[in-house]
Amino acid sequence: MLLMLTKENAVTKFLFVTDLDHTLVGDDQALVELSDRLQRHRQQHGTKIVYSTGRSPLLYRELQQEKNLFSPDALVLSVGTEIYHNGSDIPDPEWSEILSPGWQRETILTITHKFPELVLQPESEQRPFKVSFFLKAEFSGILPQLEAELQKSQLNIKLIYSSGIDLDILPLTSDKGQAMQFLRQKWKFAAEQTVVCGDSGNDIALFAVGKERGIIVGNARPELLQWHNQNPADYRYLAQNFCAAGIIEGLKYFGFLE
Ligand code: GLC
Ligand code: MG
Repeated sequence: MLLMLTKENAVTKFLFVTDLDHTLVGDDQALVELSDRLQRHRQQHGTKIVYSTGRSPLLYRELQQEKNLFSPDALVLSVGTEIYHNGSDIPDPEWSEILSPGWQRETILTITHKFPELVLQPESEQRPFKVSFFLKAEFSGILPQLEAELQKSQLNIKLIYSSGIDLDILPLTSDKGQAMQFLRQKWKFAAEQTVVCGDSGNDIALFAVGKERGIIVGNARPELLQWHNQNPADYRYLAQNFCAAGIIEGLKYFGFLE
């Protein structure tokens, strides 16, 4: 009984939200171990599992098949702009409605066209609420000017730069953090019972939005590490281990796993 009290978290359901590339995925053996433990926790305690990735549905399916990822309770795709429940292939319309006011992709494309440094990503990654480019790190100095140009047209957008190459333009109401909060409130999990995990720029929103427990994997990108160093918090943990092994380490640190 005493043991159960001190290990309270381990027997309590929690909301688990994780990025995929270089976070959940990247160490095949640790991925299998973590997947088993999470699925057991879900069965026994009602823990909810969310994948949150920059990938489109097409690229998600590729990774899902390649790594045999188990089905999450909800899938957040395209950097938080699409939420899918229980394997459905229709995005949550309530979420789309929150993102659509003032979103003007044509105007965004007209403005971005003036910046030759921006190279459009493949068609599959252009989504209803996401316009994405490749931008080489050496040209990333244009970002303030680009943002200013977009703001001039009063577009309610945000820019997210990840991994020294990917630039996403999204509605202001959207990112991985906002999408996570939407699900957390829908399912009624406290921030203390929510864990978010990531490795790169588009994951900063997961860590920055509130006081959810954060796990930064040991292989995190410089942009996330820099943000973490500038915004230290005791509800965030920087793991030593990489990818899923870092997540297991963090879940133990917070007491969600034994
Ligand atoms: C994924 C997406 C890409 C996006 C990147 C960063 O790689 O496919 O469109 O720019 O994540 O969010
Ligand atoms: Mg990643």
